[in-house]
Amino acid sequence: MGVAIFGPGIYVPSTVMTNQDLEKLVDTSDEWIVSRTGMRERRISLDKGAREMGTLAAKELIDMLAFNPEKIDEIILATNVHDGRRTFPAHAALIAADIGARTGIPVHDKLIACTGLVGAIREAYSYIVSGLADNVLVIGAERISQFTDYSDRNTCVLFGDGAGAYLLQRSDDEGIIKNVLGSDPDTGGSGKWINGYLTTEYRKGLQIVSKNNGEFQTREEEKNYLIMDGRRIFRFAKRVMREAFCEVVKGTGYSLEDVDVILPHGANIRIIDAAAEGIEQEGFKGQIFTNLEWYGNTSTASVPIAAAEAIEKGIIREGSLVINVAFGAGFTYGANLYRARFSK
Ligand code: ACO
Repeated sequence: MGVAIFGPGIYVPSTVMTNQDLEKLVDTSDEWIVSRTGMRERRISLDKGAREMGTLAAKELIDMLAFNPEKIDEIILATNVHDGRRTFPAHAALIAADIGARTGIPVHDKLIACTGLVGAIREAYSYIVSGLADNVLVIGAERISQFTDYSDRNTCVLFGDGAGAYLLQRSDDEGIIKNVLGSDPDTGGSGKWINGYLTTEYRKGLQIVSKNNGEFQTREEEKNYLIMDGRRIFRFAKRVMREAFCEVVKGTGYSLEDVDVILPHGANIRIIDAAAEGIEQEGFKGQIFTNLEWYGNTSTASVPIAAAEAIEKGIIREGSLVINVAFGAGFTYGANLYRARFSK
């Protein structure tokens, strides 16, 4: 018995924020952002939260697969933020209703930062293998812009909004081969770092509220904003991304030589390049694909947003051996190794 993974369906907001837009908000430059992160644009949701974006990604997936949503046995939503204030109700419950899933199924939200969707895939896999479910919908949906302070150049250039969804299904064919999920507790330091070096701080900051005549409008709001010590995260990320994608092939009968595509969490092109340094010497002949250049760091949605483009461009094909790899606050990290399947 295997577990196939179908998808993704994705949703990205239509509002584009360029590096030039950011130059008008904070003391930064296109040159700095491109050379230090690889990013040129990101999408900003002006009206939709994790619920609406997650629903749209799930609906795209359901339509693409011509799948009856009443057959879904469980829904897991990986997200960092609901609408900027509430942490409950579980938005997976709202999405279940929005997509027409049947009443009575387990629904839950998962909070392990940017590792969320990779972790949700692992969890869904284990429910299917243990016989608890046949079809599990996993979604990553993020409106990170809602807890980003657009007066903080250390963070606001990095993030974008979006959502992605996969269906995991009991199958006789090879699908998901192995999952890795782990943590390396970031206990932080003193003062604002008391809960880690990638955390939130309650303070006054600038929120994006609209875009009029091509200009983003902001408003001062007092709330929890994402803060981080970028250099520490960089060091952690490049180490664990490497460890996670090496670990996920171990003991599977496959090696990096067999892997066609690696889809890394799109946090920073320099993290990805550093994690992948010398990977060819370990036999890797495939492609590392990210579209962070156009979407920024969309947290739990970044792997499916990249996967959708890789499929569209024929980089991931039916039968391709693929690795998803991510890291996030906590610190957390994870990877999935799977054989891509497009049709049931
Ligand atoms: N524009 C211009 N200058 C900037 C900006 C900016 N947007 N941001 C920082 N700088 C300045 C700094 O103030 C610093 O100036 P100084 O030397 O005068 O002090 C200088 O640029 C260099 O700063 P560094 O921190 O050394 O820059 P670095 O090369 O490390 O890049 C970055 C910073 C992009 C944040 C990098 O460290 C990084 O990507 N870290 C990981 C971030 C990450 O992945 N976070 C996880 C996000 S959470 C999640 O995924 C949900």
